[in-house]
Amino acid sequence: MIHLQCIACGEKYGVDEIIYSCKRCGDLLEVKYDYEALKAKLKKSDWQRLPLSVWRYKDFMPIHDSSKIVSLSEGGTGLHPCKRLGNLLGVKQLYVKNEGENPTGSFKDRGMTVGVTKAIELGMNNVICASTGNTAASLAAYAAKAGLQCIVLIPSGKIAYGKLAQATVYGSRVVQVRGNFDQALKIVLELSEKNRRVYLLNSVNPYRVEGQKSLAYEICDQLNHKAPDKVIVPVGNAGNISAVWKGFSEFYELGFISRLPQMIGIQSEGAAPIAQAVKRGRNEIVPIDQPETIATAIRIGFPISWKKALKAIRESKGTAETVTDREILEAQKMLAKYEGLFIEPASASSIAGLKKLIELEEIDKNEVIVCVATGHGLKDPDVIMQTCERPFEVDAEVKSVEVLLGPSS
Ligand code: F0G
Repeated sequence: MIHLQCIACGEKYGVDEIIYSCKRCGDLLEVKYDYEALKAKLKKSDWQRLPLSVWRYKDFMPIHDSSKIVSLSEGGTGLHPCKRLGNLLGVKQLYVKNEGENPTGSFKDRGMTVGVTKAIELGMNNVICASTGNTAASLAAYAAKAGLQCIVLIPSGKIAYGKLAQATVYGSRVVQVRGNFDQALKIVLELSEKNRRVYLLNSVNPYRVEGQKSLAYEICDQLNHKAPDKVIVPVGNAGNISAVWKGFSEFYELGFISRLPQMIGIQSEGAAPIAQAVKRGRNEIVPIDQPETIATAIRIGFPISWKKALKAIRESKGTAETVTDREILEAQKMLAKYEGLFIEPASASSIAGLKKLIELEEIDKNEVIVCVATGHGLKDPDVIMQTCERPFEVDAEVKSVEVLLGPSS
């Protein structure tokens, strides 16, 4: 009932094959279901009574054996109504899906719970990934939980400190590559093809992105079985926007929502091959050799899932936009100050993108908008200490603090 299928030539593969790309044409794979059979199965299932979480949607996941599930309680993140920020920006129904509430502080945990469970089902003992930080932190945690050997490759000196600390403490072997993320990804792609004992858990792995599609399912369930008008997602390697679109499309296909949202991808100006392709109406991306942005999580020049992302944006009649580092930092502070949500710079690109699209009059003030905040702010405290006001320092006496209260009224 479930199989893998190439997105370009349509070649099919069994779900128990260890495969990351099409053997015939080399393109990306995706998991396909028999939706009629799934509908029949869901009728008998009590999934809607389970608490909001990735595994509420177990029937929609490519896992055979529930006893093998490796979980740290992922998903079930808040969909926060943001009235104060919405008023400021000029939209009436703004929500932030706060993925920082996941166990390792990012949406990657949705993918890793499924990807690492699949690794166990396939009998793998070694897992690997390349990462700008969050994938590494997440894989390291799930590998630790499952008792797997884990190697993570990161671009040397270019990941946020919190993420490096996470990958290290979970006991994975952390390898700093003298190069950028794109180069590190190339290495792990080659290595996992060459050495079949090592299971690759980047987003080319079609099972990992299956977990990430639960983000869309949750949004629909949190909005009382409706999709929003627009979903704004930060884009790096382009796995997540593709996964989220797959989630909405499946809920539509299964009849749980009556219309689809528009997908909007946001990239940082210095690393924006997908946004450039969308703006120029191209069907292919032009990779960026030396991507640069303060949002290190999305400092990616050659997004591996670009084809899936372009399809998601075009099929949904969405769009893509770029934002500057300055706009990202401003948006990060705005969300924290107005809504009490502290998210990392890459995540804030969705808020910065929303602000820009409102200014460009591409968003109607009555639309229901969901911005995906992909990772927790504490992952990258350095950026705040460099860009925000320093704390006051006073002598240890009441009067020094009292003056800070300002004149009494
Ligand atoms: N936001 C955050 C916080 C991320 O860590 C990433 C990707 C993205 C957005 C973009 O998601 O790649 O699916 O388009 N981080 C990867 C990593 C690349 O290695 O942690 P994407």
